[in-house]
Amino acid sequence: MKNTLKSIILVLVFVLGVSVNVWSSNSNTLVVYYSFTGNVQKIVNALQQQTSVDVMQVEPAEEGLDYAADNYALGSSLIAAIRNNPNDPASYPEIKPLGVNWGKYGNVIVATPLWWSQMAAPMQTFLFQNGTAMAGKNVGLIVSSASSGISGVVADAKRLVPNGNFLEPNLWIKSAQTGNASNLVSDWLAEVNFPASSSGETMQVNVKNKVFVASLEDNATAAAFKQQLPLTVTMNELNGNEKYYYMDTTLPTAATNPGTIHAGDIMLYGNNCVVVFYETFNTSYSYTKIGHIDDATGLKQALGTGNVAVGFLPVGESSEKGDLNGDGRVNVSDVATLINMILGLL
Ligand SMILES: Cc1cc2nc3c(=O)[nH]c(=O)nc-3n(C[C@H](O)[C@H](O)[C@H](O)COP(=O)(O)O)c2cc1C
Repeated sequence: MKNTLKSIILVLVFVLGVSVNVWSSNSNTLVVYYSFTGNVQKIVNALQQQTSVDVMQVEPAEEGLDYAADNYALGSSLIAAIRNNPNDPASYPEIKPLGVNWGKYGNVIVATPLWWSQMAAPMQTFLFQNGTAMAGKNVGLIVSSASSGISGVVADAKRLVPNGNFLEPNLWIKSAQTGNASNLVSDWLAEVNFPASSSGETMQVNVKNKVFVASLEDNATAAAFKQQLPLTVTMNELNGNEKYYYMDTTLPTAATNPGTIHAGDIMLYGNNCVVVFYETFNTSYSYTKIGHIDDATGLKQALGTGNVAVGFLPVGESSEKGDLNGDGRVNVSDVATLINMILGLL
């Protein structure tokens, strides 16, 4: 049955030209980038803050070259050499060896500047040398240009990695948008269904009689939070998009501005304030991510509009009869939950 369904989907994909994003969630991701004036580097930094990816930088073998001098003369001649003779290894400028262990990666994100409407020459060298090893891998493309469209760069990538499984859409960030890279990257990751940087660990989030499963981040904060479970607390309402609770203990922090908050995100604000978000919106605040509710359908309704009892529990801890807050125990805090529930109904 499952196989039949899979075949139907594949046929639909081919017949209708439907593009599906299939980033592998159980495989590592390598981000390989080149940057001459630092824009792509900033984009990759934003990406690194929001995902758990390995990052490698392509560097020209010859240091200190100015590709933009004399009206971009050097950059222009490097691109022309490749364009004239794309199959000749001698057309590609030398780069420092990176020695990628390709067996480790199923996903690759290539981040590159655009030069003369093509892919920057040093990145072309990297793909010329590694394109065969990248066969069958999922490939995403991030391109930075001053203003030119990126179709030439996409064509270069496909020529150099002929058997890559290119996932769309690509992310194009103009130089002037670099300051907003965090938001643009966050939106793109959501759009391409990029797998969350989960540790593989999960917890339950129980709200009234509804049970949600959350994937925990692969970081020290999530690990420390897990140590606190089971934890049943009354969370306070804020701004019509989140519930928060100040813990007695502090947790390790590595706060960054995530750009976009997604419904179901569980974050740490400061070092002891746990926040569960039930709306998606842009934020200027910084948080350390604890985890994300895998399927946040019904979360907003369950949390309601006021303060609410929420149980954070190890997965599989069952709710007993009378366990109104779902913390796996029947005790005095269930009475508080009952009172809250009655008040909520009035
Ligand atoms: C040699 C060279 C050629 C370029 N050609 C173009 C171009 O044709 N069109 C364009 O919009 N930007 C062009 N740019 C600008 C870069 O694509 C843009 O500044 C990009 O953000 C640089 O990324 P980086 O800071 O990571 O190096 C060129 C830059 C260089 C150095």
